[in-house]
Amino acid sequence: MVKTEPHASVERCVTVSLGERSYDILIKAGLLGEVGPRLKRLGLAGKVAVVTNQVVGRLYGPTVLRSLRSAGYQAKTILVPEGERAKSLRWVGRILDELVRECFERGSLVLALGGGVVGDLAGFVASILARGIPFVQVPTTLVAQVDSSVGGKTGVNHPLGKNLIGAFHQPRVVFVDPDTLSTLPTREWVAGLAEVIKYGMIEDEAFFAYLEGRVDDLRKMQPEPVAHVIARSCQIKASVVEEDERESDRRRVLNYGHTIGHALESLGRYRKLIHGEAVAIGMVQEADLARSLGLCPAEVVVRQRELVRRAGLPHTLPPVRFTELWGAMQHDKKVVQGRLHCVLPKRVGQVVIVPLEQGQVKRWFMGLKGPEGASRIGRGSTGQG
Ligand SMILES: NC(=O)c1ccc[n+]([C@@H]2O[C@H](COP(=O)([O-])OP(=O)(O)OC[C@H]3O[C@@H](n4cnc5c(N)ncnc54)[C@H](O)[C@@H]3O)[C@@H](O)[C@H]2O)c1
Ligand SMILES: [Zn+2]
Repeated sequence: MVKTEPHASVERCVTVSLGERSYDILIKAGLLGEVGPRLKRLGLAGKVAVVTNQVVGRLYGPTVLRSLRSAGYQAKTILVPEGERAKSLRWVGRILDELVRECFERGSLVLALGGGVVGDLAGFVASILARGIPFVQVPTTLVAQVDSSVGGKTGVNHPLGKNLIGAFHQPRVVFVDPDTLSTLPTREWVAGLAEVIKYGMIEDEAFFAYLEGRVDDLRKMQPEPVAHVIARSCQIKASVVEEDERESDRRRVLNYGHTIGHALESLGRYRKLIHGEAVAIGMVQEADLARSLGLCPAEVVVRQRELVRRAGLPHTLPPVRFTELWGAMQHDKKVVQGRLHCVLPKRVGQVVIVPLEQGQVKRWFMGLKGPEGASRIGRGSTGQG
């Protein structure tokens, strides 16, 4: 881990080593204005389709287009709607129509400028056009900069489930400009911190301790800790992906906090939680489940809950019945022979994948509950502030 913190304008580079599919994640303030010349240096030629949405396109589209054109690229913008609804086959079709009409082929490039929605959608389009054309990520949310732009998972939603249609398609390069985060709504920023905390919990206690020391600065978006946190998060994700590109086993540790997190998201009435918030609650509750199973000491639960709380994230389970929660947890891909494979912490910096039976989870859950069925743990905070 980097002990000192270089200035945010210093360039950091994290390489994802996947043989011939290897690529660099470049992190530097102001990188957006250098996209064109840097693509040129990488030897990427041809037309560029910049896929973005109205909000991000208005804020950052002109800088990227100027940079591309200054380097001699013929670039066009494709606008998709804001939010999760853009991650649909309908929008895949529309983008493909436009690219085919404009004669985009193997020698062309798709550039995703935006959050995880735009990255997943544009990456999927790039993976199927002409059986795969080069793809570049320019992530502009914290979630996208530390998570979704790295690792090559692309895809869209099906009406019956999230991310059901997709492909592995690694980008050629990822350009992270932390300056773009300055316009991110606070809630989206804080939600991204949940995934950052996750990396500390699954892999790196020193990084977790760093987050404990700098969480107040991170909430204020101080440039140095922000750049460091992005780089370290990308390193951890890269190292996990390098060991298991297609999620056979090792990559599942990245799902820490997501078994309960996804369940809360999918229980429709908690739609008020955005993904990172649900993951924050999921991590805190899964750690408590681990404690109840004797897998980790209570200090781990307390320490993690404290960091989550200080980051401004929620940590209490909304009022929910066990059958509802257990049912929603089953929809995950991690059920094998009736047992739910859940990522649980042993200590800060180490997790294990544990097959769980309903009875074990129920005993933990009932321990949280009052006789009327109201959730008791940490009552009083939904932690939005
Ligand atoms: N492929 C993966 O490995 C992976 C991993 C994690 C999440 N995801 C996916 O990512 C998506 C969530 O991504 P997200 O959290 O980035 O959400 P998002 O893409 O919906 O972006 C959140 C909001 O922020 C806006 N926005 C983006 N950048 C901005 C900026 N710089 N300034 C102001 N506003 C900005 C967007 O318009 C949007 O309204 C989900 O669909 C999820 O499934 C994929
Ligand atoms: Zn996540």
